[in-house]
Amino acid sequence: MEPSVCVVGACNMDLVAYVPRMPVIGETLHGTKFQMGFGGKGANQAAQAAKLGTATTFIGRVGDDVFGHQFLDNFKKVGIRTDHVGVVSGVSTGVAPINVDQHGANSIVIVNGANDHLTENGPSLPPSGNQTDCALVLVVQLEVPLAPTLAALRLARAHGVVTIVNPAPAREGLPAELLALADIVSPNEPETHMLTGCPVDSEAALRQATETLMRQGPPCVVLTLGARGAALAVGSRFEQVPVGRTPAKVVDTTGAGDSFVGSFATLLAHHLLASATPGEQPRATLLRLLSSPHEGWTRLLACIRGANVCASMSVEREGTQCSYPTRDQLPAGLFETRL
Ligand code: RIB
Ligand code: NA
Repeated sequence: MEPSVCVVGACNMDLVAYVPRMPVIGETLHGTKFQMGFGGKGANQAAQAAKLGTATTFIGRVGDDVFGHQFLDNFKKVGIRTDHVGVVSGVSTGVAPINVDQHGANSIVIVNGANDHLTENGPSLPPSGNQTDCALVLVVQLEVPLAPTLAALRLARAHGVVTIVNPAPAREGLPAELLALADIVSPNEPETHMLTGCPVDSEAALRQATETLMRQGPPCVVLTLGARGAALAVGSRFEQVPVGRTPAKVVDTTGAGDSFVGSFATLLAHHLLASATPGEQPRATLLRLLSSPHEGWTRLLACIRGANVCASMSVEREGTQCSYPTRDQLPAGLFETRL
């Protein structure tokens, strides 16, 4: 068996304007540069997983237009399996106009287009299908409709596949089932605040917020904290994991969170395989690791450290997927799974 990751999510063509500062309402501002790039949180996470050399399947929708076909070509180029990427006629591929300021900070608008046409009964995600049973880890976000997202999570649960829910972009009024089906939830600070109503302004507050999240289902929380790295929470245990390297220059932080989630999922797949006992399903391995204070904690921290490195490398270059590191660009030892 090889480490494998399945991502259900959105494809957006990123239309990025680099600007000296964010425009205010009613203002016309000169940008310094324009670039298009393959984006969408799901597609980005899949691209990061594939760039790290992991077998990656993407489930999503593009429109039958120029962007859609460019997306399919790019998926193939990156090495992502596209059998479950449907082409929807009569709608446009998702797009994301993005402004990036001189500090690398961004503001993003997403226009879903074809992404909204992913349905739980669509040809590529039949409820009785088994697309995820070849994967060790399934990753979902909140950029495609909830019905197929929940269907994929249920399928994963039924097949003993580990689920990671990245609740982005933050949204209110989510069904309880979403977190109930999450083995690991990985929000950023605003998403944590939205999901819990808890303050997120200190380490103590964050720790409490993760406990509130865990009461909603997931036995493990991996919190992303931007430039401050990430934090791991399992039960009453909590640890902040700083990035551990300083980016040479912060050029563009767009999609850094997706680099983190995609590389975390990849590293987790490697560690699950390394730890699995014969015949053990991935989710059973994860649950065993979560209850083992030494091995589990060590492996999860290693996944977070590696994901921190990938995300911090991605901010040094413009764009999202094209800025993600490949495995040979990473410091040695990141994929070491021997304890
Ligand atoms: O997380 C970054 C992504 O969010 C961008 O690629 C954009 O497409 C939006 O989906
Ligand atoms: Na980048």
